[in-house]
Amino acid sequence: MLIQYFSNFKYISNTIKSMKQYFIYIVASLAVLIGCTTPKPAEVVSPDGHIRLAFALDGNNRMTYQIQVNDTTFITPSLLGFQSKDGVNLSENFRMTGIDFDTKDEVWTQPWGENKELRNHYNEMAVHLSDTTATKLTLRFRVFDDGIGFRYEYEVPGVDSLLLTDELTSFNVAQDGTSWSIPANYETYELLYRTQPLSTIDNANTPMTFKTGNVYASIHEAALTDFPEMTLKNIGGCGFKSELAPWPDGIKARFASNSFKTPWRTIQFAPKAVGLINSALILNLNEPCALETTDWIRPMKYVGVWWGMHLGVESWVINDRHGATTANAKRYIDFAADNNIEAVMFEGWNEGWENWGGTQAFDYTKPYADFDMEEIAHYAKEKGIEIIGHHETGGNIFNYEKQLDKAYQWYADLGIHCVKTGYAGGLPDGYNHHGQFNVRHYRNVVKTAAKYHTTLDVHEPIKDTGIRRTYPNMMTREGARGMEWNAWSEGNPPEHHVMLPFTRLLGGPMDYTPGIFDILYERAKKNPSRKQWNMKDSKDCRINTTLAKQIANWVILYSPLQMAADMIENYEGHPAFRFFRDFEADCDWSEALAGEPGEFVVIARKAKDKYFLGAATNEYARDVTVNLDFLEKGKTYKATIYADAKDADWETNPTAYEISEKQVTADDTLTISMKRGGGQAVSFIPDNH
Ligand code: NOJ
Ligand code: CA
Repeated sequence: MLIQYFSNFKYISNTIKSMKQYFIYIVASLAVLIGCTTPKPAEVVSPDGHIRLAFALDGNNRMTYQIQVNDTTFITPSLLGFQSKDGVNLSENFRMTGIDFDTKDEVWTQPWGENKELRNHYNEMAVHLSDTTATKLTLRFRVFDDGIGFRYEYEVPGVDSLLLTDELTSFNVAQDGTSWSIPANYETYELLYRTQPLSTIDNANTPMTFKTGNVYASIHEAALTDFPEMTLKNIGGCGFKSELAPWPDGIKARFASNSFKTPWRTIQFAPKAVGLINSALILNLNEPCALETTDWIRPMKYVGVWWGMHLGVESWVINDRHGATTANAKRYIDFAADNNIEAVMFEGWNEGWENWGGTQAFDYTKPYADFDMEEIAHYAKEKGIEIIGHHETGGNIFNYEKQLDKAYQWYADLGIHCVKTGYAGGLPDGYNHHGQFNVRHYRNVVKTAAKYHTTLDVHEPIKDTGIRRTYPNMMTREGARGMEWNAWSEGNPPEHHVMLPFTRLLGGPMDYTPGIFDILYERAKKNPSRKQWNMKDSKDCRINTTLAKQIANWVILYSPLQMAADMIENYEGHPAFRFFRDFEADCDWSEALAGEPGEFVVIARKAKDKYFLGAATNEYARDVTVNLDFLEKGKTYKATIYADAKDADWETNPTAYEISEKQVTADDTLTISMKRGGGQAVSFIPDNH
């Protein structure tokens, strides 16, 4: 024991010499040498000094960390480490062999994103440890002004593989508070959000957002590329522990080598809820871009042969209601070309839909007989429209992997460089959607797509942990209850859209597929060939928002591939569709201006010289006043306002909207009036545009 602390002391003395001023290292060993029994922790603070993270070995030499925010304990001592099969020690009797401190302050750019330019500013503490059997571990802690991240880097000499059975990482939150989360589930994130005291949560998926005292926080993970997903399990009071999605044999993670690095475990902190949205913590903790070129990657607005299937007026499978026919494809391409929309997506174009829910055997290079792929690709090219391909797997990833290269090559040969994928169905052989096996599959698809200069929109994905920084062709994904639920279930309640930005979207973009204008499905109800195909008949379903809120969601629910999801006949001639024509999927700057989880949100974005604002509320009407000081000073803009009409109400009068115009500058304020379940969208176009 004494020797252990003595060696720490020698090491620390050396480190202190090179240590920069802002790192506080309290010498653990010194305390022991002068007769105290409790070692003091190693600490690292945020660049602005308000977040303080301390690492310590407890009385039993178990690894722990704790966090203070604004000098108040936020996370009380919480365990770290893993358990493994076959007796490899990954958590006990460790001793510190050294500490390295570092700092970084850089600005980096990305090819697309909410903000093209991001600042990565943190202080790092890397704690090096080893145990008596020579397991080596570096615990790398990074503390930013907007949160913390840490990861494990293990090396176990003398073994050739590692099987993890449990993760011990805990988050013992010091105080109770309100939380917003979905339940933990290894198969799906398409679940409704819960607002409840933190202490009453049994389990949750991440990002799990909460407020205790005056601090908003969200627990999540970054850079999940070869590990199972982390969910959170309550271990008493406001304490949570990581629960990893297992392999079919119960093992949580396996490595065919003697070392592994985990994803980052993250906690974002902000004094206001919108601070969580404006944080780049998750992206900053991912590796820089691994692709040689990115000039082939571009954000796009799109429409698609899609909603008709969900409403039951068209079908994926070939029959007399088939949606993806050559004639319909051309109609959508024409509409896109006429409306400043870059791309069109077609579902149900390939053989195999007759097996959906059965063998899930799709063929990714065989179009149905009434869908002439070559002719459609040629037609789209002539009109300057991109095609977004579609690969539904039904969860049969073995069938997909067998065809992967061929499928992406085939599309690339046709000039198709963007693909929506889907995993709607259980995986075979006891695998789940969110375990390490499938995480590896998702990453494999991203890398394969990149080989063919193809971008991705993944439905039923693994959660977003910011890997778009490393692979910017991984553009958008679903991973929450999207629009489709409104077609065949009780639907997404008004609070859902003002919950997503503070929870799911902290991970990254979402392909929610917003913008349904036929809120009550009047057209579908008149269609005699409509059929029920899923949970509820669409005649009993509807959209639970006003029309203005549907428009606002194009701004609020950020996606670099942004869909106008309705059937195009519901947009043709509709005055409010002008917003989408003017809108840009690409974006240079964004800021969440105001909001509270589950209540309301206001977000502004800049795209070239235009600005767009989206505001939405839950089932309560409210007025919010915002400063327009984000606009460029000295310029005058034409603001076109798409608002709820005075008598609009999501339940009783959802389609009542008003469009008005006015001249504004950066010195003005704007009062946004939203009715129950409503919203507002504004485009700001400079006078000289
Ligand atoms: C679920 C996806 O989320 C949806 O967008 C798609 O239409 C269906 N699966 C069929 O692929
Ligand atoms: Ca889905």
